[in-house]
Amino acid sequence: MIVRNKHRNEIYSINFNKSLKDFFRASTKKYHNIALITDSNVHKIFHKEIMNKDINILKISPGEKSKSNRVKEKLENKLLELKFNRDSLIIAFGGGVIGDLTGYLASTYLRGVDLVHIPTSLVAIVDSSIGGKTGINNNKGKNLIGTFYNPKEIIVNSDFLKTLPNKEIRQGMAEIIKYGIIKDYNLFKKLEKINDNFLDNNEFEINKILKKCIKIKVEVIQKDFKESDLRSILNFGHTIGHGLEKLYSYKKSHGDCIGTGMAIESLIAKKYLEFSSGDYKRILKILDKYHLRKTIYKKSDIPKILEFIKLDKKNKKSKITFSLPDKIGNIKKRNKKFTVEITDKKIEQTLKEYLNEI
Ligand SMILES: NC(=O)c1ccc[n+]([C@@H]2O[C@H](COP(=O)([O-])OP(=O)(O)OC[C@H]3O[C@@H](n4cnc5c(N)ncnc54)[C@H](O)[C@@H]3O)[C@@H](O)[C@H]2O)c1
Ligand SMILES: [Zn+2]
Repeated sequence: MIVRNKHRNEIYSINFNKSLKDFFRASTKKYHNIALITDSNVHKIFHKEIMNKDINILKISPGEKSKSNRVKEKLENKLLELKFNRDSLIIAFGGGVIGDLTGYLASTYLRGVDLVHIPTSLVAIVDSSIGGKTGINNNKGKNLIGTFYNPKEIIVNSDFLKTLPNKEIRQGMAEIIKYGIIKDYNLFKKLEKINDNFLDNNEFEINKILKKCIKIKVEVIQKDFKESDLRSILNFGHTIGHGLEKLYSYKKSHGDCIGTGMAIESLIAKKYLEFSSGDYKRILKILDKYHLRKTIYKKSDIPKILEFIKLDKKNKKSKITFSLPDKIGNIKKRNKKFTVEITDKKIEQTLKEYLNEI
């Protein structure tokens, strides 16, 4: 699959099931120096697959805490020590944490060196490795510091998923369901039918689903790299979801929060726009099938959730906007935009109604 970025005049490919050995062999011929950045969980499982005498393996601790300036600086110092120059390559081998951090590092090290993503988690395969967003967290919030930076290549192999814990599969399922709701009714129908244990489906089916999701994200980011309008459809479920993540001080996982977020945002679409009750019920059902509606809040939390949503960087001038479907598989433009403003009162009402429903 080819990704074209017309704003930056860049082009790169997403390659499926490419042999790592072949890729390493070709890269060691091409580059002066190569570093592969991974976390200790991933390293423990795949150390044999990534072993190569010409590649420097840099291992960091797993988890969101590693998406920090401190860890980035440590890696930069290591690369400087190893005399990495502009003819070097940096490979991100891991989940979204590794991808975001390594992408940011590659984009700023000597003002930019070549980057390749090899995503190993479901979230990284269908979401974070595509689209060029890189970044780290700081004490004021998540993903506040970063760049838009494209890799030279993304290598996708669903075999890596076999060792991924169930909880992490669930995080990726939330984004996969989101793709179905915002852009692909057939994908949604497929997700209604298949085995709820994603990895128990046959390999062909799994790969087909992954490719569909990747294609949707690529199509969206090709048209709107910097998120001026269309790209906001990828935020379906995320406005409420981010509010819930903040309410729980990020102790609950992203996918679990956007699961509930998608349910509540669908209820907003049903109450105040044209989304049908039949479609709303199907969304609740599919979220339950993949155990994505377990994050819940109390009535007394509602003012806090609203406040957190307003603080979100995506909500300009304290007005809360959403990207909401008109039916499963589509988000239509309203007033020439893919986002629509919903008043605080309506959001509050919906958050209350959702609690009464469950
Ligand atoms: N840049 C973007 O557009 C974008 C989009 C979505 C998410 N993100 C970011 O991605 C991060 C979340 O990504 P994630 O869910 O992959 O988290 P993660 O990188 O923390 O990975 C989840 C866990 O799975 C482990 N793991 C990864 N691959 C494995 C494998 N094959 N087998 C066994 N264990 C494995 C990791 O060590 C980690 O413990 C967040 O920081 C989020 O902000 C970025
Ligand atoms: Zn997300």
